[in-house]
Amino acid sequence: MRFLLEPLLAEDELQDLVSVLHDPAAPWIDGASTAGWHARDLKRNHQLDGESPLHQQLSARLEAVLTAQPLVQAAAFPRRIHGLLFSRSGAGEGYGRHVDNAWMGGGRSDLSFSLFLSEPEAYAGGALVLESPAGEESFRLPAGHALVYPSTLLHRVEPVTAGERLVAVGWIESRIRHADQRELLFELDTARRCLFARHGKDEIFDLVSRSYSNLLRRWDG
Ligand code: NI
Repeated sequence: MRFLLEPLLAEDELQDLVSVLHDPAAPWIDGASTAGWHARDLKRNHQLDGESPLHQQLSARLEAVLTAQPLVQAAAFPRRIHGLLFSRSGAGEGYGRHVDNAWMGGGRSDLSFSLFLSEPEAYAGGALVLESPAGEESFRLPAGHALVYPSTLLHRVEPVTAGERLVAVGWIESRIRHADQRELLFELDTARRCLFARHGKDEIFDLVSRSYSNLLRRWDG
C-alpha cells in the first residue's frame, strides 16, 4: 500500500529546510558514492554529505516529523526510520530503474519515502515512477508533500530536463513485516476509529480494539 502525506512539512519548516540546503556552504557530494554496485551507473544526482553535521541535524529533524505523523504511525508501524538522504538533481540527472536494497546500514527497508522539496514548476522531468503489477504510477508532488511506498517495487526517477529537483528520501523498517498484514491492520484501525466517532467506547469498540491489539502483538516482527 502506498500513501501520500499532504503535506508532511508546514510551510515555515519547508522554507527553513530549503534555505539551509541552498546555502553555498552546504556540503553536496556526488550521489553515485552511496548507490549499490548494480545501481551505480544509473544514479546521477548530488547528495548532502551524510557525514556532515548539517546532514545529521536535518535528518534527525525529519525523522522526528515523520515519526509524529499520525498516518505514518497508523499505516507504516515504524520501528526505525533510517538512511535519510537529501538529493539534488539538475538537468541531465536522474536515477534509472532499480529496486532499493533490502538491508541498509540502519535497518530493513520495508517502505521507502520521498519528500518533495521543490515545487513541480521549478523543474521539468524528474517524475518518480513506481512500477507495480497494476501498471506505472508517476509522481511530481507539491513541495512539502511526501509519498510512502513499498520498497519491494521497481522504480525510477526520470531525467530532469531543466531546473532543479530537490528531495529527501529514506526508508522505514516496519514493526509489521508483511505488507498485507499492514494493510489489514490499517483498515481495522480505521474501522475502529469510525466506530468510536459514531458510538463512543461501547462494547463493539472494545472487542474490535482487542482484536487489533492482539493482531499487532501476533504480527510484530
Ligand atoms: Ni530507490
